[in-house]
Amino acid sequence: MRLIDVKMRDKVWFIPETCQSCMNEKIKEEQQREKTNLIDRREKVLSLAEVGEAYDNASFENLKSREGLYNSIIWSKRFADRIKNNSPEKISVVLTGTTGNGKTYLASCINNQLLNLGFNVLMTKLPILFNKMSDYKVTQDILNIIKDLDALIIDDLGIESFTSKRLEWFFLIMDKLVNHKIPFLITTNNLNQEIFHFSKMTNQDLLYSQRIFSRIHGMCKGSIIKNEASDYRIQGE
Ligand SMILES: Nc1ncnc2c1ncn2[C@@H]1O[C@H](COP(=O)(O)OP(=O)(O)OP(=O)(O)O)[C@@H](O)[C@H]1O
Ligand SMILES: [Mg+2]
Repeated sequence: MRLIDVKMRDKVWFIPETCQSCMNEKIKEEQQREKTNLIDRREKVLSLAEVGEAYDNASFENLKSREGLYNSIIWSKRFADRIKNNSPEKISVVLTGTTGNGKTYLASCINNQLLNLGFNVLMTKLPILFNKMSDYKVTQDILNIIKDLDALIIDDLGIESFTSKRLEWFFLIMDKLVNHKIPFLITTNNLNQEIFHFSKMTNQDLLYSQRIFSRIHGMCKGSIIKNEASDYRIQGE
């Protein structure tokens, strides 16, 4: 009996050439294992997600445009398209602007579109991650989840209060994104280093805040976009 090698994904099996049913069995097992892994991974990612139900139907097709929003739409679409098309030139984006002018809505358009296409995207707010990063093991688990993402969307940066530990965690997140070239999109009212500051900061804290700020700017050269639209909450759609 001669053995043939059957290559699937990164695995090679040696199966008797004549045994078609062994091969079918192996392929079925492997497909089942992959499906279970994907479901496990999705559940882990979902446990870290935070998007309000109000944004469930946000989509580029349904969005209402208005003066001042154009650039933010273009960059949001560009961010999503590069991921969808598996472009080697992925981009990271910061959407800044005053309250209620559609930053979270656009981030949700990206999130909904990529999720519907099966991409491994996480949209969340930092306090959700910080509340879970209670010990070393969980922190490492979260960083490993982030490392495998197709994109991370951090909504409403700047609303949380920072502490030494939170700065360190955020630095670890940003460092992971940069080192593994994971594209990220941040929405914030105002991107400046002071949003990381708190009273009685040590020199070490200051260094972390500088390193975070430097990484965001390094990854978003030319893509820190000011959304100049007016407030949808106050003015309506
Ligand atoms: N382009 C849009 N089309 C339709 N509805 C929108 C659009 N942009 C925003 N809205 C609606 O306006 C409200 C405020 O939008 P959103 O939450 O995106 O603002 P924001 O810029 O994230 O505000 P904040 O800075 O306070 O977080 C939401 O209810 C959202 O559904
Ligand atoms: Mg918002």
